[in-house]
Amino acid sequence: MTHPPAPRSSTDLPGAADRRPAELPDVRLIEGMLARRTTNGPFRPGPVRREHQHLLMRVAQAAPSHFNSQPWRFVLIEDPRTIETVAEISGQSMTELIEAGVFFERYRRYFRFTEAEMEQRRDGIHIDHLPGPLRPFTRQIFSDAGLRLMRQLGVPKKLGEDNRKLVAGSPLLLAALLDKSEYRPGELSGFYSVFGLGAAVENIWNAVGALGMGIQFVSTPMEIPRQWRRLQELLHVPDDLELMAVYRLGYLPEEGKRPSIDWSSRHRKSLAQFVSRETCGVPEQE
Ligand SMILES: Cc1cc2nc3c(=O)[nH]c(=O)nc-3n(C[C@H](O)[C@H](O)[C@H](O)COP(=O)(O)O)c2cc1C
Repeated sequence: MTHPPAPRSSTDLPGAADRRPAELPDVRLIEGMLARRTTNGPFRPGPVRREHQHLLMRVAQAAPSHFNSQPWRFVLIEDPRTIETVAEISGQSMTELIEAGVFFERYRRYFRFTEAEMEQRRDGIHIDHLPGPLRPFTRQIFSDAGLRLMRQLGVPKKLGEDNRKLVAGSPLLLAALLDKSEYRPGELSGFYSVFGLGAAVENIWNAVGALGMGIQFVSTPMEIPRQWRRLQELLHVPDDLELMAVYRLGYLPEEGKRPSIDWSSRHRKSLAQFVSRETCGVPEQE
């Protein structure tokens, strides 16, 4: 995509005028981005201050978009009845996915079971926290025998209930949508829209850390079209918008108790694994 350079006012977006010389890098901003993470655990029950909600929307719209189309739309959800219903849909979806083995089938390749595996691959997620009875079977968890065992132990219900509680205990949900006049899957505009929404959400994801907050995808309903439609109806999504993602947000507690089945994913690939120089064939050295 090419377009002519546009004159730009430095006052359009808050903070845009605050240009920092290159020799004075904003270390806190960079540290904040490097510390960005997903919150798997509960949030404090108190509401998210309205000015923080609006700040998150401001950083979202500071993201780049094709031709400044700003194709993203957001819904801020605080009504406890709506949150409770989303939580039920999310928990049920989780139970359904685990019970049917769909989740493990779809995502088996991302799971690691030892620190050594993580060290070697440097990607994926490490299941490093399991309830006692399941621990001896960590590696079998994705096999048919493992699935049977999990069903016998009531793991799908337990995970669904854990998930329901996490969502129900979140003071704020955020739905991210795209304008369908821009989001046309299969066309470049569709890709650009998803790219822009990703950038907007990443800005939110980075900013929540600075506000003492956390954020996590509420993704299980997306995996089951019937459940995703229930969410669309609940949020009254009109025909000209596409519901793309739902997140839960809140302030982080002092000390988080880990969920009964939990994972960590702080590893990142080495430079040589994902960067090359000049052509694709020359891995970058540290
Ligand atoms: C497109 C996308 C989908 C994701 N889906 C989920 C999800 O369903 N549940 C979840 O807890 N995290 C989800 N995540 C977060 C990733 O698991 C997480 O970013 C990754 O494991 C790295 O961990 P970190 O964010 O703590 O650095 C998703 C992230 C992206 C970008």
